[in-house]
Amino acid sequence: MELLKWYQKEQRDLPWRRSRDPYHIWVSEIMLQQTRVDTVIPYFNRFVDRFPSLQELAAAPEDEVLKHWEGLGYYSRARNLQTAVREVVEKYGSQVPSGKKEISGLKGVGPYTAGAILSIAYNQPEPAVDGNVMRVLSRYFCLEDDIARPSTRISMEGLAQELIPAGEAADFNQALMELGAMVCTPKSPTCSECPVTAMCLGRQQGREKELPLKTKA
Ligand code: ADE
Repeated sequence: MELLKWYQKEQRDLPWRRSRDPYHIWVSEIMLQQTRVDTVIPYFNRFVDRFPSLQELAAAPEDEVLKHWEGLGYYSRARNLQTAVREVVEKYGSQVPSGKKEISGLKGVGPYTAGAILSIAYNQPEPAVDGNVMRVLSRYFCLEDDIARPSTRISMEGLAQELIPAGEAADFNQALMELGAMVCTPKSPTCSECPVTAMCLGRQQGREKELPLKTKA
C-alpha cells in the first residue's frame, strides 16, 4: 500500500515512536492535542524521564506534574492525565486498558485519544481522527462535509476505520497523521511529494486547497 510504504520510509524519528508502551503513547497524544510536535518533543522526553511509568506518575505530587507541563499550557490536560493514571493503577492493575469502553471512560480520553492509544500501542483497528486526518480524508475523497460538525467527525471515523489494512492499524493511523503534518498541509499541500496523489479526488478536481470545508473557526 502506497501510504504505508511512504510512511515506513519517510516517517520522522519521534521519541514516542520508539516506544510501544501504552502509557508513553498516551502521554504523547495528550501533549500533542493542542501543541505542535517540535514543542512537544523536549517536554515529552523530560516527562517520561521523570515519570517513566504509570505508577510513578500516579504517586507524584500534582505540583511537580504541573511543573513538567509548564509552558505547554492547557494544564487541565496534565491534571486529567494524572487523575486517569491513578484510576488505571487502582482499577486496572496499572495496565492501560485495551478495551474501547474502559479506555474511553478515563478522564481526558476522548474518541481521538482512545483510538490513538488502541491503534498505536495495541494495533487495534480503531480510527484516530483529528483535524489533520479529517483534512486528508476530505481531500482524498473530495468530501464537502463541514468538518466542524460532530456528524462529520463520526462519519469520518467510520470511513477511517474501514480504510485500516488488516494488522496495520498502528502504522496506518500514524501514516495518515504524518501525511497531514508533512505533505497534505492546510494552506499549500505538497501534492508532488504525496504517495497517493494519483488517487486523490480533491487533487483531480483541483480543489485540494479549498478542502476541507469548515464553518465555524
Ligand atoms: N499528532 C498527534 N498524534 C501524533 C503522532 N502520534 N505522531 C505525530 N503527530 C501526531
